[in-house]
Parts: sequence; structure tokens; C-alpha cells
Amino acid sequence: HKHLLGIEPLHPEDITTVLDLAESYVNLNRQAHKHSDALAGLTQINMFFENSTRTQASFELAGKRLGADVMNMNMQASSVKKGETLIDTALTLNAMHPDLLVVRHPHSGAVDLLAQKVNCAVINAGDGRHEHPTQALLDALTIRRAKGRLHRLSIAICGDVAHSRVARSNIVLLGKMENRVRLVGPPTLVPSQFSEFGCEIYDDMAEGLKDVDVVMMLRLQKERMDGGFIPSEREYYHRYGLDADKLSYAKPDAIVMHPGPMNRGVEIDGTIADDIHRSVIQEQVEMGVAVRMAVMDLLARNLRATREDNDKGVM
Ligand code: CP
Repeated sequence: HKHLLGIEPLHPEDITTVLDLAESYVNLNRQAHKHSDALAGLTQINMFFENSTRTQASFELAGKRLGADVMNMNMQASSVKKGETLIDTALTLNAMHPDLLVVRHPHSGAVDLLAQKVNCAVINAGDGRHEHPTQALLDALTIRRAKGRLHRLSIAICGDVAHSRVARSNIVLLGKMENRVRLVGPPTLVPSQFSEFGCEIYDDMAEGLKDVDVVMMLRLQKERMDGGFIPSEREYYHRYGLDADKLSYAKPDAIVMHPGPMNRGVEIDGTIADDIHRSVIQEQVEMGVAVRMAVMDLLARNLRATREDNDKGVM
């Protein structure tokens, strides 16, 4: 693959290749000397048109640990504020010969569009409510390590599925790896069309969480809700917030996940989020660095092979 724009175009073997390579980077990242030369001589530009803590920091660390020259564009201070378009911004940076562009954008499809205009590898770091592929890959690695496998698991994705690119990428990935995915939340946030993805839909947490292996909670994404959220946060927490009582319906060894950022007391009780016996939220963050290292390493290998073929005149 030239780019990583979504999970949709990946085959199960591609997913396994990323996760296997990421395992070696988990080991590297736990050492005192966290350095490899996999991206030596390459330039990585991070363009985040939307706020981020985890994704931005982990892409930056991943690039630096692999020896790339990493530049973080401050989009808030860029000429986008003077009216320059996304495409003109991308073409401008493209003229500086980057090798990897990491892009987050509030509009679904914006990263795909940008990838058509540049001649380097593009990684989607989250576009609108469309896809967040490296999040799904890091979630997959976290699940595989906690459960010992990434198939025939029962996984409940709970909350604001409708506005979530994390949910969409996870639904596609987990489906490709032959897991059973349940979506749990109020009908306003879990539209019935999601059954087209092969998911079972529940609007009751006790039923939806019954005997699942994995409980994945999602934030209410108010920034993507036109006109605000319908029930009060208190009412939402009462019905859909993950607390010990609701978690007791899942398997006794079920893990709790959350992509972050979390809103404690809205979609999840703080004590559950901090429970080291159940919550793998910090492991997700750790896996994020390793998975992004693996993704950039694989894209760079492809980029180098293509350039060598071009140099030799291979069509
Ligand atoms: N999970 C995630 O994408 O977090 P950030 O928005 O902080 O990057």
C-alpha cells in the first residue's frame, strides 16, 4: 500500500503484518535506548487541522524514534487562517519533498483528497467521522495482547457510534478479523443502518454487555452534533455510562477500552477507567506509538522500493 487512508482497503494479512511488526517496536520502546534507523533520511510532516493529544504526540515520537526528520506544522498559526485551502497547503508542503504526511482533518474524505495531490505517503490520523485507521490498529494490538487472539471475540462498542471515526474503523477491522461486534447506545447515537456492517445493535447496556470479552467506550462527540445533545449528561451516564454494575454483565475477565480523550462521569466511571485489572486504556496509548512506528516503517519500505524501481526505469 502507498498510503494508509483507512482500514477498508486492508486485507486481514496486512493487519497481521502491521501488528506483528508493532510487537517488535513495543519491545524497542521499553528499552533505555529507543532508536532505530528505519526512517533515517526521510522527512515526516504532521498536519493536524483538529485538536489531538495522543495521535499527534505518538506520531511525533514514532517518527523521531525511527530516525526521521519530523516537523509538526502548527495549523492554528499557518496560512490556512488567511484563507489558503487544504489542497494549496498540501501542494506547498509537497514542494518541500516530504516522504510521509500525517494528516488529521475535521472533514470526512479530506485526507483521501489530499493524498491524490501529493507524491509522498499519506497517513490518515482521523478525518471527520470517517476513519481513524491507526486507532483501530492500536486497539487491535491491545486486544490481541490482552486476549491472546484477535478472532472469535465478542466486542461491545458503546456510546456515540454515529459521530465516531474510531467506531467505524474498529467495526471494519474487527469484522475483517472475524469477531462479533455489538453496538450499544441510544438509537440517536447508534442508527439502525449500522446493522449493514454486520453488527448487532442494543439500546440497553445490560443486554449489550452480556458475556462480551471487550467493552469499548466512546466519548460523546459534541463537536460533531449540530444543535447539541438531547438527554442530559447525568441521564446519559445513568443509562449508558460504564460503571461496576453495568460491567458486571460482561465476562469476568472482560477488558475495558477507551480511545481517549475521556469524559469521566459521562461515558465512564473514573474508578473503572483507573482499574488496572480491567482497564487497558494506558496500554492503548503505549500500543499507539508502536503501531504508528510499524505503519510508517512499512510505508517507507514501500516508498523506497518504488523509488528504486523508478530509478531503474521499471514501470
Ligand atoms: N484517540 C485519539 O485520537 O486521541 P487524540 O484526539 O487526543 O489524538
